[in-house]
Amino acid sequence: MAGLRKDFLWGASTSPHQVEGNNLNSDWWALETAPTSPFPDLSGDAVDSYHRYNEDMTLLAGAGLNAYRFGFEWARIEPADGQFSRAERDHYWRMIDAALRLGLKPVVTLHHFTLPRWFAESGGWRRPDAADRFTRYIEFIAPALQEVDWICTINEPNMLALFATIQEALFKVTDSQGAAATELATAMAQVRPDQALGDTLAQVHRRAVEVVRATTNAKAGWTVAQQAFTPTEGNEDVFERVHHEWEGFYLDVARDDDFFGVQAYTSQPVDANGPVPHPQHPDNSLTGWAYRPDALGIALRRAWDETGGVPLLVTENGIATADDTRRIAYTTEALGHLEKAVADGVDVRGYLHWSALDNYEWGRYAPTFGLIAVDRETFVRTPKPSLAWLGACARRNGLH
Ligand code: BGC
Repeated sequence: MAGLRKDFLWGASTSPHQVEGNNLNSDWWALETAPTSPFPDLSGDAVDSYHRYNEDMTLLAGAGLNAYRFGFEWARIEPADGQFSRAERDHYWRMIDAALRLGLKPVVTLHHFTLPRWFAESGGWRRPDAADRFTRYIEFIAPALQEVDWICTINEPNMLALFATIQEALFKVTDSQGAAATELATAMAQVRPDQALGDTLAQVHRRAVEVVRATTNAKAGWTVAQQAFTPTEGNEDVFERVHHEWEGFYLDVARDDDFFGVQAYTSQPVDANGPVPHPQHPDNSLTGWAYRPDALGIALRRAWDETGGVPLLVTENGIATADDTRRIAYTTEALGHLEKAVADGVDVRGYLHWSALDNYEWGRYAPTFGLIAVDRETFVRTPKPSLAWLGACARRNGLH
């Protein structure tokens, strides 16, 4: 069986808002702190990775990993329209230096769900000048990115298209007390990716790829959430439609990119009404998702076929569980599917586990995805056995 490449990346992922803390000028901070916020938890200090990134990276490298995916936070770098902070850019520059010094390849995300508040409140990605504003931010940070090989432009554009209607509904209710829960429920029932926003994000991405290629030495791509949909009997047509509008469109956009970021956690059947919500099951994860480690294999093979052979990087895969033995079992199976796909000729360049740390899971702290636990009062980090286990896979460059 063909093994993994010698330069295979073994690492873990985070996103700025979920681990840094006090992302004050972002749209998510505004959502969380609104009086009508539907979220049980505020991100607050998160796990203070803004100050403790060195400790976090040292733990990853010490375990044997050789890569770390993290993001630049646009809301910190351009906290007000046109006001760019060199000090914040330099913060991320120091993170890149720290990663390289520790032997971790930095994989950098430019936008991971959060936007500067001024940008979001003036139309966000729907602003006619959205691509200009995003690329101006990229040009500003480009000097810090010169030694980075992998740059993810937009994280999960398909989830942005899916959640756009919900987020807009939430913004609408932040000023009027009381209606949030009802509006959220209505938005959830109608949820379907917004194709117009998908088209816009595709244009923004293409411009961003051009700018990344022109201003850095990195490979450019985007990362897409793959639900690994499967058709139920007689519903092949619905499956085709759902797959295209949720994922296929975004895979197609990646055809001319340098790499494609695969993000897979679970698999969902599609029936006559569309994706079937995960039924209650004792095996479901803390996010309520079905236990489907095979989703990674499905996602990799589909991404390979549908992008026409763009090199793949697994930028997220993992499970929300309080039982670390289960995390190891899930990841063992997922990596088995990855290795089979590689043996069948799929070009996979690395595996970045979600997540390095237990973190802010968009409204809640309860679903724990981390290889490292964090006490959120003292910020003490406690590596879980899964970190050493993944590090051992990295040192062997394979499961066995
Ligand atoms: C996102 C992460 C998130 C993870 C688990 C992905 O959709 O990129 O930010 O925490 O899945 O839900």
